Amino acid sequence: MSQAKSQSIADLRIDYSQASLSEADSAADPFTQFGKWFDEAIHAQVPEANAMSLATVGSNGRPSSRIVLIKQFDEHGFTWFTNFDSRKGHELAQHPYAALLFHWIALERQVRIEGRVERVSESDSDAYFHSRPLRSRLGAIASAQSQAIASREMLEAEYAKAEQKFGDNPPRPKHWGGYRLLPDTVEFWQGRQSRLHDRILYTLDATGSWQRQRLQP
Ligand SMILES: Cc1cc2nc3c(=O)[nH]c(=O)nc-3n(C[C@H](O)[C@H](O)[C@H](O)COP(=O)(O)O)c2cc1C
Repeated sequence: MSQAKSQSIADLRIDYSQASLSEADSAADPFTQFGKWFDEAIHAQVPEANAMSLATVGSNGRPSSRIVLIKQFDEHGFTWFTNFDSRKGHELAQHPYAALLFHWIALERQVRIEGRVERVSESDSDAYFHSRPLRSRLGAIASAQSQAIASREMLEAEYAKAEQKFGDNPPRPKHWGGYRLLPDTVEFWQGRQSRLHDRILYTLDATGSWQRQRLQP
C-alpha cells in the first residue's frame, strides 16, 4: 500500500509551457519586474497571490519559515506586518536577514527575494494598523503570537477582554507593526518545457545598480 502511494507521488509532474522569460523581456530592475508579474498574478486570480513564504534564521543557525501577506512593495522594499515578539520577530532581532518566496502556481512562476530587514516607521505601522478591520485589530491585541496558551477558550477570553477595554477604537500595540525587506538579490523563475526553465537573477552591485544574469535551471 505505502509502496503504491510513494510510486504515485514520484509520478506527479507537470511539463510547464505557458510562458517564457528572457534577458530582453525582463525589466531593468527587479521592482518593475515584480510589479508586472504581481499584476499578472492578480489578473489571473491566483488564490492569495499576496501570500509569501518568509524564512528567517535563529541564533542557533536553524532556518524557519511561515506564510505572511505582502502589504506593500516599491523600490524601497517588500513590507509585511506581524508581531515583533513572535518567533520570526525574535529571529529578525537576532539576525536581520530574510528570504521571501512567492509561488504563483497557475502561472508556473516563482520569485525568490533575499536581503536585509528593518522595521517600518511607527507612523507607517500606525497607518496600516488603523486600516485593518476592527476584529483583526482586536485579535492583534489579544494574541501573544507564537507563545503557548492553555486553550482556545483562554484565547477567546483575551479577545473579549480587549473588546471590553478598547471598544471600537483599539490602539496599535507597541509589539505589532511592519517589517520591510531591502532586497540585494531577486530571482524570477518561469517554468519551461523539458525542465529547461528560465531563471533571471538580479543582483545589487557595489555601485547600487542592478545586474541581471541567466541561471541554469
Ligand atoms: C495565508 C496566510 C497568511 C498569513 N499572513 C500572516 C501575516 O501577514 N502576518 C503574520 O504575522 N502571520 C501571518 N500568517 C500566520 C503565519 O504563517 C504564522 O503562523 C505566524 O506569523 C507565527 O509565525 P512565527 O511563530 O514563526 O513567528 C499567515 C498564515 C497564512 C497561512
